[in-house]
Amino acid sequence: MSTVIEVVDVRKTYGRHVTALDGVTAMFESGRSVGIVGESGSGKSSLGRMLVGLSTPTSGQVLVNGRDLRQLRRRSLRLEFLRAVQQVAQDTTTTFDPRHTVREAVRTPAQILGGMDKAAADDAVDAIVEELGIGAELVDRYPHELSGGQRQRLSIARSLIVRPDILICDEAVSALDVSAQAVVLNVLKQYVRSHSLGLVFISHGLPATAFITDELLVMNAGVVVEEGDTATVLGEPSHAYTRQLVEAFRTVETAAA
Ligand SMILES: Nc1ncnc2c1ncn2[C@@H]1O[C@H](COP(=O)(O)OP(=O)(O)OP(=O)(O)O)[C@@H](O)[C@H]1O
Ligand SMILES: [Mg+2]
Repeated sequence: MSTVIEVVDVRKTYGRHVTALDGVTAMFESGRSVGIVGESGSGKSSLGRMLVGLSTPTSGQVLVNGRDLRQLRRRSLRLEFLRAVQQVAQDTTTTFDPRHTVREAVRTPAQILGGMDKAAADDAVDAIVEELGIGAELVDRYPHELSGGQRQRLSIARSLIVRPDILICDEAVSALDVSAQAVVLNVLKQYVRSHSLGLVFISHGLPATAFITDELLVMNAGVVVEEGDTATVLGEPSHAYTRQLVEAFRTVETAAA
């Protein structure tokens, strides 16, 4: 069965005045690549955090394979959820502990979530690094001895080493320059295809999102205002907000050219 995360009529409020998500219903499954776009503060990260279980809805439900994470009392089930749904953060400086080599950081999830012993986990590190086209020599360095792009690819390796069903990327390439972005996007896109990985790609960048996703959710003020096939949504946006978003992007692109 393909892993499915179902978000059912979810609201998320912070205090009395902030409604970050206002009745969001959406479905994410392995083998599909879905982009979440919208202006700053529209609720993208609030939704992303909920998908990986880092935040709970004020009302509504988030179900993974039909189960609410809050009901997963058994450790083995929780570990299985954590394996199946992985994330890549924007800021890799918090992903890697400066006191340890990158190998140790990439190996740890394989040991904890994959149940591997150290030797098997080390083999898994070498395998995923090779698969992602990362130079083998980088793995035994310390985080500060790597470029931002290299660190980001290794943090993706750290998430993929447990062979998740769905990967949630929140602004995962936004901090990189265009050429480093292209490398990461190509690696991710290939992996998504070859492993039928589900991808949730949260981003400000429309070109990157268009390149890597099949479908789009457009968010505005905590609400999904438009959804559908990526090419259609961007090519023939039906909602005024989406048109504005696409238009704003074209203006910036033209100004930068
Ligand atoms: N922990 C929090 N406490 C209070 N308010 C929060 C918290 N997290 C997010 N918010 C608010 O919720 C709203 C949605 O924030 P969110 O981070 O989901 O936006 P976003 O779409 O990811 O924006 P960006 O593109 O800037 O990353 C914003 O108004 C934000 O200020
Ligand atoms: Mg965000």
